[in-house]
Amino acid sequence: MFFEGGFAARRWENGQECCHVCFWSLGLDPRNCEISRQQAKKGFAYMSMVSEALGRISSSPTVGISQKARQMRQAGRDVIALSAGEPDFDTPDHIKRAAVAAIEAGHTKYTNIEGIDELREAVAAKFARDNHLKVEAKDCFVATGGKQIIFNALIATLNPGDEVVVPVPYWVSYPDIVHLAGARAVFAVADAQTSFKLTPEVLEGAISADTKWVILNSPSNPTGAAYSAKELEALGEVLLRHPQVHILSDDIYERLLYDGRRFATMVEVVPALASRTLTLNGVSKSHAMTGWRLGYCTAPAHIIEVMKKLQSQSTTHASSISQWAAVEALNGDNRFLDEWRKVFQGRRDMVVGALNAIDGIECLTPDGAFYVFPSIAGLLGKTSAGGRHIGTDEDFVMALLEESGVALVHGSAFGLAGYFRLSYAASNEQLEEALNRIGVFARGCARS
Ligand SMILES: Cc1ncc(COP(=O)(O)O)c(C=O)c1O
Repeated sequence: MFFEGGFAARRWENGQECCHVCFWSLGLDPRNCEISRQQAKKGFAYMSMVSEALGRISSSPTVGISQKARQMRQAGRDVIALSAGEPDFDTPDHIKRAAVAAIEAGHTKYTNIEGIDELREAVAAKFARDNHLKVEAKDCFVATGGKQIIFNALIATLNPGDEVVVPVPYWVSYPDIVHLAGARAVFAVADAQTSFKLTPEVLEGAISADTKWVILNSPSNPTGAAYSAKELEALGEVLLRHPQVHILSDDIYERLLYDGRRFATMVEVVPALASRTLTLNGVSKSHAMTGWRLGYCTAPAHIIEVMKKLQSQSTTHASSISQWAAVEALNGDNRFLDEWRKVFQGRRDMVVGALNAIDGIECLTPDGAFYVFPSIAGLLGKTSAGGRHIGTDEDFVMALLEESGVALVHGSAFGLAGYFRLSYAASNEQLEEALNRIGVFARGCARS
């Protein structure tokens, strides 16, 4: 029998070690691992194949839900998945054509680690044009998605004992990358009372002498909350008092801001923070290019240098073809973005209105991105029409998926229990049907 539980599970009762590869990679109980059982029977002890660093993180919960939704679809169930974080639009044709042209021109070989000059120039021009940042191509860096920029920056700079301030609710990958680096994520709560925005007081209270980075994400995944220039200035004043702190400004949803709001980023508002701020962006969300895996940033030279060193030993550089496509995305005709923004704003209004009409659900109106993050406090403790107890937000999401075929993500996956995240990057028909099903499900709970 196995006797050590949780992620410390390692040895059999007789003292032999188990690989428990199955435990980590497939989420199975190691007691059911045939390889381990056979090896143990033979008296063969071998080392865990899982690093301690990997043991500190978990697989993405959003991927787990989407996988379950896919399995249900394969089994013939009618499932509407509003769990993924990607635009439902297709990548525009002029960008696709630029990629085809790049292939035909033979741009199919290794490039610079930091990205081709043409793209870094386009990135510098974008930051100057849209964000009024004074940067040159040499201050810009390109990677395989915005996620790799975050990964590079944190893994290359963090040591055990370092702290990173992560506002809650957070995008799922931030704390896991911090933990992978062996550092500590310090959670600064930005809940519905402050419209899911960090206040200067909460930020100040979360910073210590060990804080190396503060992460800011605006508009936010999962809440859609966005900081105004004034709000950023107030946070910037706090950050100016702590010169040991670097700032990671994740602006990946910059283009999706509604009701005529003007986007602002930290260095634009507080230029004195430029020497310790990484400003992250990418084409995934703005140009419906999630699969092209292309992110970019501007950062001080000492950060670019370490990111480059780390990337030289991982992916080397972003795909050459995606880089040429991104040149077109940044330099080409972007008028379609205003059209997309209007479509998203219309969907946001429809979704917020429909959710607030459901008893037990309360939804703030987000400023941007393509998510809503409503509270289900009024449904907790009830029982669904299918007889499932809704004790937690995860119970709600699972019962809704199984009984009504709508896939959402529970708020606790983003660090805030009692909520769910719905992505409205889906057609109006799908959204209407999903909202109808959520309403029927919630009314079923209310009756039981
Ligand atoms: C807040 C946030 N930052 C960064 C990313 C990374 O995007 P990508 O790696 O596709 O560029 C995502 C993707 O979901 C995100 O939601």
